[in-house]
Amino acid sequence: MVWAYVDYGADDLQTLRANREAFSRYMLRTRVLTGNEGSELSVTVGGETISLPVLLAPTGLVGISHWTGEVGAAQAAERAGTLSIVSTAGSYSYEEVAHGTEKDHFFQLYPWRDLSAGRHDLTLSLIQRAQRAGYRAMFVTVDVPVHGNRESERKRGMGNPPVITPARVLNAATRPKWWIAYLRHGRISARNLVESVGARAAVQSLRVQFSMMRPELNWDDFKWMRDQWNGPLYIKGVLDADDAEIAVNLGATGVVVSNHGGRQLDGAVAALDALPAIAERVGQRAEVLLDGGVRRGSDVVKALCLGATAVCIGRPYVYGMAARGPAGAEHVVNIFRQEISRTLTLMGVRSVKELDRSWLLPANTPLTDGR
Ligand SMILES: Cc1cc2nc3c(=O)[nH]c(=O)nc-3n(C[C@H](O)[C@H](O)[C@H](O)COP(=O)(O)O)c2cc1C
Repeated sequence: MVWAYVDYGADDLQTLRANREAFSRYMLRTRVLTGNEGSELSVTVGGETISLPVLLAPTGLVGISHWTGEVGAAQAAERAGTLSIVSTAGSYSYEEVAHGTEKDHFFQLYPWRDLSAGRHDLTLSLIQRAQRAGYRAMFVTVDVPVHGNRESERKRGMGNPPVITPARVLNAATRPKWWIAYLRHGRISARNLVESVGARAAVQSLRVQFSMMRPELNWDDFKWMRDQWNGPLYIKGVLDADDAEIAVNLGATGVVVSNHGGRQLDGAVAALDALPAIAERVGQRAEVLLDGGVRRGSDVVKALCLGATAVCIGRPYVYGMAARGPAGAEHVVNIFRQEISRTLTLMGVRSVKELDRSWLLPANTPLTDGR
C-alpha cells in the first residue's frame, strides 16, 4: 500500500513514464582535454545558496515510508547541503520540522478549502504558521484543483481511510519493524490540519479530503496569497509558458515546471518537454525549477542546460527514507552530487553556471561539421 502510494501515478501512468523518457531524447556534448573538473555545483534558490542544484520536493505523508517523516527528510537535506520543501500534507507539522532542523527550509502550500469557516481561513492560518516558524520561501501548488485518479494505489488499498483486508494484514505482518514504528509514532495523518483545525475536524476533513480541493481557485486567489506572504514565492505545477508569465507578472519569484510526478493529469506533457518554452519566456526575470523523473546526475545537467536553475526530486529521496531513514535520503542526495560532478567532468565543464543549450544534442542525430 505504501509502495503504491509513493511509486505509482494517475490513470495509465503515461505522464509518469513520459517524465523519464523525455530525458533520453537529449545527449550531452563532450569536450576533451579541457583540464576542467566539475567541481562547482552550488546555485542560489530563493536567496539561499545550496551546495548542489537539487532540492527535496514536497511529498505528503513521508511518515508512512519512515517514521521520522518530513523531519528526517529535512535533516537529511541539510546534512547533504540542500533544503527541503516541506509539504502541507506532511506527517509532521511545519512547526515540528522547523523545531527539528537547524536551517530555515521552504514550505509548500495547498490552498485547501476550509470546510467550516471562511473562504481563505485555513490557507491564511497555514501561511501565518509557516511564517512564524521561520520558513524562507512559499511554494503554492496549483495542479491539484481535484485529486488525480490514482487507480493503482486505490487498487492496493491506499485511500482515506485505507482499505484493510486479511491479505493486507498478513502482508504487513511480514514487516514487523514498520508496524512497531507505525504503532509507536502513528504518523499517518496530515499533521498541519490537526494543528490548524483541531483533531476532530482534521479527521473529518481527511475523510472528505477530496472535497477540500478547490477547482474554483483562480489568479485572484494567487494574488491574494502573494499579498499574505513577504518572502520568495513559487508557483508549483505549471506546464504552460502563458501561465508562467502570468504568475511572474503577479510577483512570483519562480516557477516549478511540474506535472506532480505524473500523479495528476495523465496525458500532461513531460515536465522536461515543458521546460524550454517556460525558461525562454520567464527565465530572464524569474527562477525556473523543474521536477518529475529526475533520477540521475545527468538528468539534472540536462535540465540545467534547458534553462532550469535547479531541480527537485520526489520519489528518489522517499525511497531513501523507506530504505534507511534520514541516512538513506542523505545518501540519495550525495549520489546525485557525485553523478552531477562526474557528468560535468566527463563533459569538460567546471561549473553548473556554464551550462546552456549548446551542451545538448538531439538523440540519434548524426552531427554535421559545425553541428
Ligand atoms: C508520495 C508523493 C507525495 C507527494 N505529495 C505532494 C504534496 O504534498 N505536495 C506537492 O506539491 N507535491 C507532492 N508530490 C509531488 C512532488 O512534489 C513532485 O512534484 C514529484 O514527486 C516529482 O516527481 P518525481 O517523484 O519523479 O521526482 C508528491 C509526490 C509523491 C511521490
